[in-house]
Amino acid sequence: MRGKQWFWATLTLSSITMVAIVFAAWELVENRYFRDANYLTLHYLYITRGVASSLVLMFWAAWFVLRQRRENEEDLRRSNDRYRSLLEDFPGSVILYDKDLRVVEWNASAERMYGYTKAEILGRPLSSVPPGKAGELREFMSRVDSGEAVLAVETTRLDRNGVAFPVQLSLRPFRERDLPIHFIEATTDIRERVRWREAMLELEKLTSMGKMAAGTAHHLNSPLAALLLRVQLMRERAGDDTDLARLEEGLEFCRHFVRRLLEFARAGPVDKTTQDVGAAVESVVGFFQPVIDSRRAVLITDVAEAKGLRVCADRNLLETVLLILLSNALDAVGKCGEIRVRCRPLPANRVEIAVRDNGVGINEGDLARVFEPFFTTKDPGKGTGLGLAIARNFATEHGGSIRIESKAGQGATAFIELPLATAMRAEGALR
Ligand SMILES: Nc1ncnc2c1ncn2[C@@H]1O[C@H](COP(=O)(O)OP(=O)(O)OP(=O)(O)O)[C@@H](O)[C@H]1O
Ligand SMILES: [Mg+2]
Repeated sequence: MRGKQWFWATLTLSSITMVAIVFAAWELVENRYFRDANYLTLHYLYITRGVASSLVLMFWAAWFVLRQRRENEEDLRRSNDRYRSLLEDFPGSVILYDKDLRVVEWNASAERMYGYTKAEILGRPLSSVPPGKAGELREFMSRVDSGEAVLAVETTRLDRNGVAFPVQLSLRPFRERDLPIHFIEATTDIRERVRWREAMLELEKLTSMGKMAAGTAHHLNSPLAALLLRVQLMRERAGDDTDLARLEEGLEFCRHFVRRLLEFARAGPVDKTTQDVGAAVESVVGFFQPVIDSRRAVLITDVAEAKGLRVCADRNLLETVLLILLSNALDAVGKCGEIRVRCRPLPANRVEIAVRDNGVGINEGDLARVFEPFFTTKDPGKGTGLGLAIARNFATEHGGSIRIESKAGQGATAFIELPLATAMRAEGALR
């Protein structure tokens, strides 16, 4: 409104000024050249002055109005371009439709999200609403019509191939003079967000299940040990009783499972102290040697290169992990197999412990899963599938890594890499 008033005020003032200039110029010419002119000449001069000033006024007004109109058109075009690029570059889909769900606007993101091009969908009924959500959309529309806001609601939409996916939707009214109400639907694809949310929920569930399992395992540990002891005593007394032997075996596995669960779910800080890698390996090997001998396997230890190398680790955990790798190797080789444990320094202040066996090896499919908790290829009642998961937790907690290289039928090697204590001290990681 103010723009309009300004326009007319400028036009009037400039017109008056133009006429005044024309009259003044004419007056000057008359005084200079027509001072002695007769009545008739003066009469024509008056008429000419009137015509000339009207013409000047007319041209001026026409030019002024045209210029103004061109400026308005330019402004309109610029704001139209701005609105278009805003609409097209908007990361979410923006759709405008009338109350009969006939599409009026469809931006580039909507093309990508729903798979319909603008040309295909304009003027056609909205086809991205799943049949089950039509009522919900009607309700949103009536809420918006009555002045309520529909913002960031999670719902479902369909793409061109009929695939339903979750979206976050906001609906707003769009009112233009003389036109019935339209609706702007802005949606963003939240597939990724929903996936993350589900993963987090799953993790939470697993964590609480883990806590429950750990609690249960903790309570079962002592009664199981007592049961096992009692069964062993009974067996000693009863001699070769196969039922009791089977019972003992079952109880042994339960205890193994409970221990593994406790190791896997172990919470709280680890007690890291400086440990000589070679000494830790030799101590575990010494402890494990009788089991190796009982299976008639050979265990070769080579820690010469690791002399003096120290890592910063929880001694109990380190020994547990070495035992896990040694028992895996022993299970794989069966009788008369060969297991080699080698320690060697690696560049960048790291040390590697490798446990190699010449056993059955691991096929490609299983190799990708061996670190998954509860993944086992052993018979029921033989393996918990938690050994390598515990080993991996240990490696991560100690700033290291673990990997297994193997081929079916060609043995397997487990490698643990740990940072040396000096490197950890330099990084301030020693707690
Ligand atoms: N040295 C190896 N040779 C062949 N297969 C192996 C070897 N080490 C691990 N595996 C495979 O990886 C699986 C998972 O090992 P992991 O130690 O996690 O559990 P497990 O040995 O089955 O059970 P647990 O350790 O409780 O006895 C094993 O079942 C086995 O199939
Ligand atoms: Mg194992």
